[in-house]
Amino acid sequence: MTRFLFRALADLEGSGVNEETERLFAYHHATKHSYHSVRTNPHFLDWRNQPDPFRTYEGASLIKLPAESGFPMAGTFATMAALAKGTTDGGSKFQEVQLDMVWLSRLLWHSMAISAWKKVPRTSDRYSLRVNPSSGNLHPTETYVALLGFAGIDDGLYHYRPDLHALELRGSGNWTEQIARALVLPWATESSLIVGLTSIFWREAWKYRDRAYRYCCHDLGHAIMSLLLATCALGMPGGVVAHFSDLRVTKALGLAESDEAPMAFLVFPPESPSTSGRLTSPPQQELGGVPNELSLDEVPYDLLLGMHRSTILSDAVEPLPRVLPANIDSAQEHPPLRDPAPDVPLGPTVRRRRSALDFDPRTPPMERQQVEQLLDFATRDWPTDWRGNFGGETTSAERGADFVTPYLYVHRVRDCEPGVHRWDKSSRRLVQLHCGNVERVAAYLSLEQALAGNACFAVSMIADLTVASRVFGNRGYRYVHFEAGAIGQRLYVGAEALGWSATGIGAFYDDDVHRYLGFLEEGEASVGASLRAAEHAALVMLGSPSSRLAAQDQDWREPAAVISESGEEHLSGPPQFRKNEEGASPRKDPRTLPQQVVYHFAVGRAIPDPRLEA
Ligand SMILES: Cc1cc2nc3c(=O)[nH]c(=O)nc-3n(C[C@H](O)[C@H](O)[C@H](O)COP(=O)(O)O)c2cc1C
Repeated sequence: MTRFLFRALADLEGSGVNEETERLFAYHHATKHSYHSVRTNPHFLDWRNQPDPFRTYEGASLIKLPAESGFPMAGTFATMAALAKGTTDGGSKFQEVQLDMVWLSRLLWHSMAISAWKKVPRTSDRYSLRVNPSSGNLHPTETYVALLGFAGIDDGLYHYRPDLHALELRGSGNWTEQIARALVLPWATESSLIVGLTSIFWREAWKYRDRAYRYCCHDLGHAIMSLLLATCALGMPGGVVAHFSDLRVTKALGLAESDEAPMAFLVFPPESPSTSGRLTSPPQQELGGVPNELSLDEVPYDLLLGMHRSTILSDAVEPLPRVLPANIDSAQEHPPLRDPAPDVPLGPTVRRRRSALDFDPRTPPMERQQVEQLLDFATRDWPTDWRGNFGGETTSAERGADFVTPYLYVHRVRDCEPGVHRWDKSSRRLVQLHCGNVERVAAYLSLEQALAGNACFAVSMIADLTVASRVFGNRGYRYVHFEAGAIGQRLYVGAEALGWSATGIGAFYDDDVHRYLGFLEEGEASVGASLRAAEHAALVMLGSPSSRLAAQDQDWREPAAVISESGEEHLSGPPQFRKNEEGASPRKDPRTLPQQVVYHFAVGRAIPDPRLEA
């Protein structure tokens, strides 16, 4: 196994560059897409070298999880609301939960398991899709569970195999204590369950090259939220710990020579006296199983590896910085929280969720109330250490810190004027910034992907990179992308629950988004000019979903340039927004812009996907 990740970290002992935050901005800028860059720097996929989407540990004992047998009837929005309050769906802090193989099976089946299959056109090949979405369906995230006191299964550290819905035993004994100590969480040493998530950057870099670090972090955010919602519905609310010493945790998990980077842990504080005082055996240090080779040949992507390296925290982790971003406005009067109605059960919703290939622009509009419900619940609080509301036996009642603000391109929403709107989290309402048909603009900005124009609405998630990096150093880069993914996951399942569909969009023309939204001063290259050029080349094809399907089929037949990752008022340039969002003049330098786009999304009526198996 080639180990570029391991080599990139090899000389980091004792020193770190987390505080050198110019690295964060340099990486972000260097991995921006532009109309020009995707045409001058095409990438051809090497299908023979495609990484295996499944990690296996050869020789490790395999434990099949029982077939799924029911999931609580918790509502989708009710679970999002409960997560925000740090309670279970029933409203209590803890629920009497029988922790056993069936509980674990339900959890993983409704968060990280395979949930559908697609056929490759004109061949007999098929490929799997999972409950958690992933850019390019490449799935860089691996799941580990440390179990203590579960009925019917030995204490130990296990790797989850979504392809078999099974666990591979990596080491027996009290691993929750070992992981809690590595994370420096004395209150969690008697936890029954800690879920560890790692990322295999190469899986994603194979297709997306250096930009893949962003996607790995988005995927992590989706996986985190997928697991948090399922555990919350299953009566065990927990939170996320992501601010840890990478070197210590990597060693503690036995990943020191691996191609996997530990990125986040879901920690569930011990709740019942049944585990405390119980005799446990120390964790077995010799780990079972040999990890499989994912590819013939791993290609190093230095910008990506350098970015990850710059987010590493050295062994001496200082206390978590106090988060006081400008966007927490505790003095302001907030409207009462909406009831989670209408609602449908979470279990079948997450298993049914699929990314839309494209949307039908002839659909009747979404109701404004549905859009507001969706955004309200997708941006509710959730417990994590970096948000400042998780880190002890109890979840803090304080609202966590947000780094991401959604801007909407509204196309088809009843009682809502088409144009650009900002979602205001404090007042939980849409603030209109610009009126006009922005279908073509949204599609163009989303790397010329028609689905963002055919949707009912599309979203640019704008993150405050300056605040995140000021508080957390380069590590903040992970957190803003986790947050964007966590919002995205709730948009996906919330849209599904309301009878609509969604698609995450990791590919966009970064600085054109900034120009269009008024963060960046108009330069030589105007959005209008690029959009006109794209239209001229017939690349923005709205209202023709079938053409997009044909383009996707093409991907499977032959190596293709990855541009395929995939109208507006007068195309005379960006709109004049009513007022500048920052209250200051737009910046001139795209490299150091404080607010940068980190994720796009689209929600609408999905066109049928003929590749999906019934
Ligand atoms: C971070 C992220 C970025 C994505 N970017 C795009 C995109 O730019 N265009 C697109 O059509 N789909 C995009 N998708 C959707 C994935 O292609 C989709 O999740 C994957 O094929 C698996 O399908 P599923 O979501 O139905 O499980 C993205 C998904 C994620 C999570």
